[in-house]
Amino acid sequence: MARRRDRSRLTTPLETERLFLRPFVEGDFDALFSYQSHPDVVRWLYWDVRSEDQVAKSLQEKLLGTEIRGEGDVLSLAVILNETGELVGDFVLHLLSEEHRTAEIGFIVHPDHQGRGYATEAGRVLLRIAFEDYGFHRVIGRTEARNTGSARVLAKLGMRREAHLVENEWVKGEWQSELAYAILEREWFAAKG
Ligand SMILES: CC(C)(COP(=O)(O)OP(=O)(O)OC[C@H]1O[C@@H](n2cnc3c(N)ncnc32)[C@H](O)[C@@H]1OP(=O)(O)O)[C@@H](O)C(=O)NCCC(=O)NCCS
Repeated sequence: MARRRDRSRLTTPLETERLFLRPFVEGDFDALFSYQSHPDVVRWLYWDVRSEDQVAKSLQEKLLGTEIRGEGDVLSLAVILNETGELVGDFVLHLLSEEHRTAEIGFIVHPDHQGRGYATEAGRVLLRIAFEDYGFHRVIGRTEARNTGSARVLAKLGMRREAHLVENEWVKGEWQSELAYAILEREWFAAKG
């Protein structure tokens, strides 16, 4: 039985030591384009480098992703550097199943800003939203097996590697393998102490 929560607003603080997270706004096009059109960013994603039109469509979707009300909804948050106000990436939280209270996390950080712990820092906020605001039971993260940075972020977030699916998908002209990570609500609260 799904636990009922008031999903009309988030109570988790969206600010961390170095970052704050906020919903996307129309003015975010240039920042979004700069990484969605970057070959290094899309190497292990399902989609290829995006044109201006494709980024405009992606931004429209992100503008609508302000809350999760039901299955299939996506919460989409831009990651901003406190110090400069620069948009350096984004996170999504996607409710896969209302019945199983299971959501999936996804993330991108611009290559100019990678390796500084930003994905891990912002990821903790997303997990807190998932468990403490939405009351989800389980959050998963999936990545191509060669995407070492992504797998590392999922592990640093305290997620357990549960599967290594070998050549389970045909992507970008080759068989790709998938690592599946997950964390449960009780594990999140136990880790918090
Ligand atoms: C995955 C991604 C979001 C990580 O962002 P980030 O801000 O650099 O992440 P963090 O700094 O929090 O952590 C990255 C970790 O991966 C490690 N890492 C990154 N690239 C690596 C590589 N090629 N080999 C080994 N380790 C690597 C870093 O050393 C760091 O671990 P550490 O703290 O133990 O040193 C970023 O690389 C990205 O946007 N990639 C392209 C989009 C993508 O693949 N998203 C994930 C889809 S599943």
